[in-house]
Amino acid sequence: MPDPTENVLELTNLTKRFGGLVAVDNVSLHIKRGEVFALIGPNGAGKTTLFNNVTGLFQPTAGRVVFDGKDITGFKPHQVARLGIARTFQNIRLFDYMTCLDNVRVGRHVRMHAKIWDSLFKLPRERREEERVTDEAMELLRFVGIAKQANQYARNLPYGQQRRLEIARALATDPKLLLLDEPAAGFTPQEKVELMQLVKKVVGRGITVFLIEHDMKVVMGISERIVVLDHGEKIAEGPPEEVRKDVKVIEAYLGKSA
Ligand SMILES: Nc1ncnc2c1ncn2[C@@H]1O[C@H](COP(=O)(O)OP(=O)(O)OP(=O)(O)O)[C@@H](O)[C@H]1O
Ligand SMILES: [Mg+2]
Repeated sequence: MPDPTENVLELTNLTKRFGGLVAVDNVSLHIKRGEVFALIGPNGAGKTTLFNNVTGLFQPTAGRVVFDGKDITGFKPHQVARLGIARTFQNIRLFDYMTCLDNVRVGRHVRMHAKIWDSLFKLPRERREEERVTDEAMELLRFVGIAKQANQYARNLPYGQQRRLEIARALATDPKLLLLDEPAAGFTPQEKVELMQLVKKVVGRGITVFLIEHDMKVVMGISERIVVLDHGEKIAEGPPEEVRKDVKVIEAYLGKSA
């Protein structure tokens, strides 16, 4: 009997159409608890659209999204976040005029229990919870390596540190599954190595990582399994050493005429 809790995410025949364009075409895949799973494919293949269907930004046209054994198809982004899926964006989305610490504290509020009347009357429960949120946010800034920047505005950080901050904010929601959309884009080789170390540390916290990435060294270096999309369709799936040799994959990247 397969263990129903082994898969943290299961997509079944997921399809997303935009008018006549099929951006995600009947894709099925499953991600095992504790693995780093990569989604690759040429520009416009449908990778970000697939993420958007998982996180509730888009409603799938057809198919199912099951997270932790629960059908979450059509759930709203805040519901998905509460259940334990966090993400970063291809184009960094931070609160520019908030400090790094506050950016992470905002992420943490998904998990807070204090009610609005607690904060109106500054009840002890709310104060204690705020202190805990601050401590946890600081711990996450340390975890991603930007604790020194805690009180700087997010917009004043160098690009690589903004990416780290986005990861810290995503982790603040206490996810079981973390979706990273091209986290190494624009990174130097050294930053890419550091990112791979950070992803491994995230997995060490018991979090499963679902990664979109163009840099093959990064993908091959940290992923246990890879799915390849081309024009919305899944064209290959397997461990890195198999996928890199797959003729369909090579064609998709080099163009059919190559
Ligand atoms: N909101 C939208 N409305 C209409 N078309 C969209 C929308 N979002 C994406 N698309 C289209 O869906 C297709 C897949 O786009 P998507 O952004 O998912 O690709 P991607 O694999 O993430 O590409 P990249 O590697 O460039 O980030 C593209 O043709 C894109 O133009
Ligand atoms: Mg994309």
